[in-house]
Amino acid sequence: MRHMLDITDWSIEEINGLMDTADDIIAHPEKYTHAMENKKIATLFYEPSTRTRLSFEAAMIELGGHVLGFSEASSSSASKGESVSDTVRTVGCYADIIAMRHPKEGAPTVAAKFSPVPIINAGDGGHNHPTQTLADLLTIRREKGRLDKLVVGMCGDLQFGRTVHSLMSAMSRYPGIRFVLISPEELRIPAYLRENMRKLGVSLMEVEKLEDVIGTLDILYMTRVQRERFFNEADYVRLKDSYILDPEKLAFARKDLTVLHPLPRVNEISHAVDNDPRACYFKQVLYGKYMREALILRLLEAKA
Ligand code: NCD
Repeated sequence: MRHMLDITDWSIEEINGLMDTADDIIAHPEKYTHAMENKKIATLFYEPSTRTRLSFEAAMIELGGHVLGFSEASSSSASKGESVSDTVRTVGCYADIIAMRHPKEGAPTVAAKFSPVPIINAGDGGHNHPTQTLADLLTIRREKGRLDKLVVGMCGDLQFGRTVHSLMSAMSRYPGIRFVLISPEELRIPAYLRENMRKLGVSLMEVEKLEDVIGTLDILYMTRVQRERFFNEADYVRLKDSYILDPEKLAFARKDLTVLHPLPRVNEISHAVDNDPRACYFKQVLYGKYMREALILRLLEAKA
């Protein structure tokens, strides 16, 4: 049985196939309105979410299916001490597929070992977030027409930002990708990811100032400083406003830059940027729903 736990478990060809399906859903939504009739997705969210949970639910509804689940651990039996493995064995009796977000790295992988139905990792701690990457990739492909030969700036909390880790792991497999990593010293990418990039021979440049590199980028991926993963509030307060993209900084960027952000934003992008044609973060939100539809279709047809 297939799951979506880590983006690198899926080949580039498979991911390109999901994007083709998403493009087809966008072009011909009427073809898909009954595709998942009588199927149910359970969304098990042990951590807060707006876009990820609601887009999974909207995706299943648009495919003609149904949704159930919980949006906080305190309303589930986790608060009574139930293990993730027992919870998914239980929910697998009611639902055909499970999307799970959990604060512990690796929790969806444990769930997949026990689950009778496919598991989708909807974010595990500061580790991975493969379905946000699906949204990111579709946005880049639709904006740029390609996923290779791009200079990709990743800016902000690169240590705890799980969307950064999954996106770098995915994009490093396309030829000619160069990453420009923009972060404070304390928030640089984790050592394991740097080592993976080195093994793959991917070009990495690490800087602290966005202004120094913004003019060289094809993609600028802004991220929020991940307050909930900090051990101490003083460090968060010191680092939280390290980068704020505003029209003054954007004036130095290329005319065809694509600005992305997984959202939620706090202060990283000023609202004055939202109407700039280079701002694509709300398109990214929408494309996330279509990629989740494509993923549900693929996982449930793979199971059948
Ligand atoms: C991200 C997440 O949860 O990791 N949000 C999302 O799913 N789009 C980013 C974040 O919380 O900063």
